[in-house]
Amino acid sequence: MIRYFSSSGAGALLLTALAACGGAGGTAPGGAVPSAVSSTSDTAAPTACDAAAGLATLDATKVSLAQSYAKLFKIGVAINGSVYANRDPAAAALVAAQFNRVTPENELKWQSLERQPGVLDFAQADAFVAYAEQHGMEIHGHALVWHHQVPAWVFQNAAGGQATREQLLERLDQHMSALAQHFGSRVQYWDVVNEALNDDGSLRDTPWRTILGDDYLERVFLMAGKHFPDAKLVYNDFSLEKPAKRAAAVQLVQAFEKHGVRIDAIGTQSHFQLQSPTLEAIEASLSAFAAAGVEVLVSELDVDVLPPAYQNQGADLSLDAELSAQLNPYPDCLPRDVAEQAARRWAELFEVFARHSDHLHSVTLWGVSDKYSWLNNWPVRGRTNYALLFDRELRAKQSWQRVIEAANHTR
Ligand code: XIL
Repeated sequence: MIRYFSSSGAGALLLTALAACGGAGGTAPGGAVPSAVSSTSDTAAPTACDAAAGLATLDATKVSLAQSYAKLFKIGVAINGSVYANRDPAAAALVAAQFNRVTPENELKWQSLERQPGVLDFAQADAFVAYAEQHGMEIHGHALVWHHQVPAWVFQNAAGGQATREQLLERLDQHMSALAQHFGSRVQYWDVVNEALNDDGSLRDTPWRTILGDDYLERVFLMAGKHFPDAKLVYNDFSLEKPAKRAAAVQLVQAFEKHGVRIDAIGTQSHFQLQSPTLEAIEASLSAFAAAGVEVLVSELDVDVLPPAYQNQGADLSLDAELSAQLNPYPDCLPRDVAEQAARRWAELFEVFARHSDHLHSVTLWGVSDKYSWLNNWPVRGRTNYALLFDRELRAKQSWQRVIEAANHTR
């Protein structure tokens, strides 16, 4: 059956591509939000689709991503309770078979760990770590300092006004100390700071920056180095393929080095689309970060196949556009030609990554299957996206097969 319009979510059958911003999480103070893409047509012809289009022919029970890339880099995946708490046993088994490192999708964010001041809840994080250790996987901690998914109290004083610099530093120190005591050196990589840069390379306006001052990144990394001496310390961000943002990340590493502040790696999130960024831009960033002398991690890879809701979309969590048929063109299944385009894109990406394997530590996918992808709900809630290597029934897609084949090409 071909449905022309999505009927999921509130405000179903919206015929206008009304993309509004704001909403969940709020826009960071002063942070520029890309302009919404407007669509003039509400009568785009539906493309035929075939649920079986784009499935792999290779047997995924016999071939794994991690094994195929064992000589090049680790293959990671972001997981949630469906996997580590075994709510979806098939997904848990698939992750164990295909991947050799894991990032918790939400469980090590401040909001998940310490909703109330000083009240640490490690239940989910512990279940995540137990799953990873049971399967001998490397653990990537995400994320210590970020402006999203952090409770409001962190930035407030007792009267509800803005916390002082000393208060915030003290809270962060205590938070890191609690995590360090709890996990010891079981977390091998930490995203110390997530998304501190704007696309033009300037520092993003966040409560962290406002309260701590413009030199906060070095202070935060020094603090993390003290608490996590055995972990690799990572700066993580999206859209690092944009020249100005790439240059700013390189400058950050150089400044740290000059001031004797340890930074071990750059995590380039890699929330990509079918056409953008270009392979050249991706390669340029991998080369630039390697030349800066740090390890590189592709930390949150996915390939969004849906029409962008915003020009210059990036991966800013505060974007929140309204659902429309134009923005959700494949509610039932992906047309064959788009599945093929996605498979080609995945192959090309991994060919680039393989060429940079000398300094690429790992490639981590932001989710195991299309069912669990955050891109079903960002930057538009309630869409049907096809951004990963396994479909909603956990079947391996052509994209998965082409990634496996790309590893063989490099031998
Ligand atoms: C996303 C999670 O996948 C969602 O479950 C959550 O609701 C919002 O955050 N960049 C990041 C990740 O660094 O933490 C985000 O993860 C995706 C964008």
